[in-house]
Amino acid sequence: MTTDTTTQQGETVLDARGVTMRFGGLTAVKNVDLHVNSGEIVGLIGPNGAGKTTFFNCLTGLYVPTEGEVRYKGTVLPPKSFKVTAAGIARTFQNIRLFSNMTVLENVLVGRHTRTKEGLWSALLRGPGFKKAEKESEARAMELLEFVGLAHKRDHLSRNLPYGEQRKLEIARALASEPGLLLLDEPTAGMNPQETRVTEELVFAIRDMGIAVLVIEHDMRFIFNLCDRVAVLVQGEKLVEGDSATVQSDERVVAAYLGEPYEDTATAADSDAPSSPAPQAQDEDQAAAEPGKENDR
Ligand SMILES: Nc1ncnc2c1ncn2[C@@H]1O[C@H](COP(=O)(O)OP(=O)(O)OP(=O)(O)O)[C@@H](O)[C@H]1O
Ligand SMILES: [Mg+2]
Repeated sequence: MTTDTTTQQGETVLDARGVTMRFGGLTAVKNVDLHVNSGEIVGLIGPNGAGKTTFFNCLTGLYVPTEGEVRYKGTVLPPKSFKVTAAGIARTFQNIRLFSNMTVLENVLVGRHTRTKEGLWSALLRGPGFKKAEKESEARAMELLEFVGLAHKRDHLSRNLPYGEQRKLEIARALASEPGLLLLDEPTAGMNPQETRVTEELVFAIRDMGIAVLVIEHDMRFIFNLCDRVAVLVQGEKLVEGDSATVQSDERVVAAYLGEPYEDTATAADSDAPSSPAPQAQDEDQAAAEPGKENDR
């Protein structure tokens, strides 16, 4: 399988500096620096409510960070989701976002739209150029479905797929935009151990295709098997970053997961940091009125 990425080995693909996201009085992400190099699989872990998904939303233009800067291959990203996708970052969502009434194949084809060059008139007139592009898109989409093991379900409605397959379909759709960096938000949530192992192999294969990966997961075995480097977020702040062995043996990480205080607790426990996640319903109400409103169009 080929991709149109032209990343050099070792190049910094993602460079997030000083990213802060505030929702009213709540600082969900606090001054986070994180980079991902080409050829790397980087993990982002942390307890519930630590700010992991919010950080992803800041990277992908869904939120405009209150402070900080995100660069992709050296260029500052525009704060618009579709422009971020066009630049080369694709993602999947913690709460799966598929078009439930579309088929499996159609969902992947939607993911290709940032890469198809055919214009409006060509599409309306359905001329030879459009038909050729349509055929090529379908061939690529089928190649990706083959890759994630869903080719045999091409004509099924996505809503009829089991949960684990919906997650794989989201990955295929994300890959359809031919990214240089893939962000995965809890790709194995709801999967059984066997599906999780298959997903692990899938992520290695994606890396081998030349796509760098940043992955959020609560399954520690999955993370520590997979990742070259792991960053730990706690109450919006990056607590530790390093290889699997370093992170696993860090007492502060263990303490953070067990909810015990760690040495630097004074800096992490600023008055605006939550001691526990705020109730989601309240946050969603707030999101309509506060700066955290999704910037998805
Ligand atoms: N749109 C929003 N408006 C207000 N608060 C928000 C918004 N989105 C997230 N939050 C809050 O920001 C904090 C971080 O949430 P986030 O979803 O990023 O955590 P997470 O690390 O992804 O957690 P989980 O592991 O449970 O998915 C939480 O306190 C959450 O309630
Ligand atoms: Mg999350």
